[in-house]
Amino acid sequence: MKVVGINGSPRKEGNTAKLIQAVFNELNRLEIDTELISLSGQNMIRGCTACGACIKQKDKRCIITDDFFNVCLEKMIAADGIILGSPVYSAGVTSQIKALIDRASMVLAANRGLLKYKVGAAVIAARRGGAISAFDTLNHFLHSKEMFLVGSTYWNMAYGNSIGEVEQDQEGMLNMKNLGENIGWLLKKIHCESR
Ligand SMILES: Cc1cc2nc3c(=O)[nH]c(=O)nc-3n(C[C@H](O)[C@H](O)[C@H](O)COP(=O)(O)O)c2cc1C
Repeated sequence: MKVVGINGSPRKEGNTAKLIQAVFNELNRLEIDTELISLSGQNMIRGCTACGACIKQKDKRCIITDDFFNVCLEKMIAADGIILGSPVYSAGVTSQIKALIDRASMVLAANRGLLKYKVGAAVIAARRGGAISAFDTLNHFLHSKEMFLVGSTYWNMAYGNSIGEVEQDQEGMLNMKNLGENIGWLLKKIHCESR
């Protein structure tokens, strides 16, 4: 079993990465494989151009092939679980992860069921405000793709600004640890019963 975590922050090793890693630590303890995917630098994804090619072609791909999108979508389709992570930018998600979910929404609308029955969760790093709004945006994507959303002891967010500061948010970090446990529990139930 494998869970991919997609970090929508331009800071590859920033707070969002640390939150996803905290979830991964629990998954790894439960012997579930993980892969952290950053959308920063060369993995930058452009926005949807609304060309409609994916709707016509139905080939599980976006017609824009010179960026990281198709590789990222293939990794999501191959995984058993998907964690989407973003820092709060201007009371919402980053443009990097918004580009991913916009384009994925179109390709997946044209090719239904590719994420069906996967396990998903959103995690958010914030300095102060807007975390719920960003959390909702990512959850709306996961929810509309027939995935099972996993909860924890609070909404999956933690507070910090400079790199590493989220690790001082004890409640936020405990929430991530528990989220990892809950994702692992559900994945094991699904995979034991679907054999
Ligand atoms: C362009 C920009 C916009 C931001 N907007 C917000 C905001 O609206 N609310 C907030 O709480 N933090 C905001 N922040 C702070 C980040 O959410 C915070 O520093 C977060 O921990 C960064 O996570 P990262 O290290 O994974 O990038 C903003 C940061 C940047 C660079």
